[in-house]
Amino acid sequence: MPKPKVVADGPLAPEITARLSEKVEILPWSVALQGSPEPIAGIYTYGHPRVDGAMLDRLAGVRIISSYGVGVDHIVLADAAARRIPVGNTPGVLDGATADMAFALLLASARRLVEGDRYARSPGFTVYDPGYMLGREIHGATIGIVGLGRIGRQIAQRARGFEMQVLYHNRHPRSDLEAGLATRYVTLDELLKESDYVVLSVPLSAQTRGLVGRAQFALMKRTATLINVARGPIVDTAALTEALSERRIFAAALDVTDPEPLPRDHPLLKLDNVTIAPHLGSATVQTRQQMADISIENLLRGLRGEPLLFEVRG
Ligand code: 8YV
Repeated sequence: MPKPKVVADGPLAPEITARLSEKVEILPWSVALQGSPEPIAGIYTYGHPRVDGAMLDRLAGVRIISSYGVGVDHIVLADAAARRIPVGNTPGVLDGATADMAFALLLASARRLVEGDRYARSPGFTVYDPGYMLGREIHGATIGIVGLGRIGRQIAQRARGFEMQVLYHNRHPRSDLEAGLATRYVTLDELLKESDYVVLSVPLSAQTRGLVGRAQFALMKRTATLINVARGPIVDTAALTEALSERRIFAAALDVTDPEPLPRDHPLLKLDNVTIAPHLGSATVQTRQQMADISIENLLRGLRGEPLLFEVRG
């Protein structure tokens, strides 16, 4: 029996290539872009390449789209649903790692760790000066979490350990979670006005695209920090660059940007009040192993026409 053909973007991690190759024939993403005369049984997205109706129509026979990760904003879900193609993702397993990353960014940015590291290694550091690189207090500060989903909830739990006041904004208030997480629902404007740390943990959708722009930066405290562990386009990059260069806010700490990566000469990269990671939220050995397990299992189940471990409902 020939193995089913699956298109995948890459380069895939060698372990994933090895595991997939036992069961399927992997074809390069160029096939997804150009179309294929022979039937393609599945699509595996590893990064976030766009998958839309035009692509699905170019690839006759697709029975499953399996994504390595929880966010599926790169897949036009309505187009998949219209063709009755299930979409699988990997929710749950990456919440802890992503919440840890939100805190790593928050701590690094508030205490100017990356800037400090650069200075401590530089020839310029010859004399200790108690007056340099003053950061902002974290314990006792107010954190505002935009999106109290699985990741947002874990961020709230970590914030309690730092004795922070925890505010949240969510599409639907989650009064059922408020007492357990010691958090309080506020409108987005209230959250922006009151928080010392604004953390974005919402999926990218038509409703959240450009959620934080010029008007929102104007509401934030001048001493506030924006942390984005969600998706770049939730923040208006031009407005963020302006807010940081004019010191309208204290700092930003970003795991994601728009575009991603930023052009190498982008003005944001020249600012010292921004800390940027190259999309590392779920990048731990353990979490990525679980993402691989689930996404491969989703793919194989979809190819067999069985219910997925996790199917995204659009
Ligand atoms: C992954 C992510 O790094 O799960 C997501 O939505 O953005 C990250 O955990 C990514 O999906 C793998 O490309």
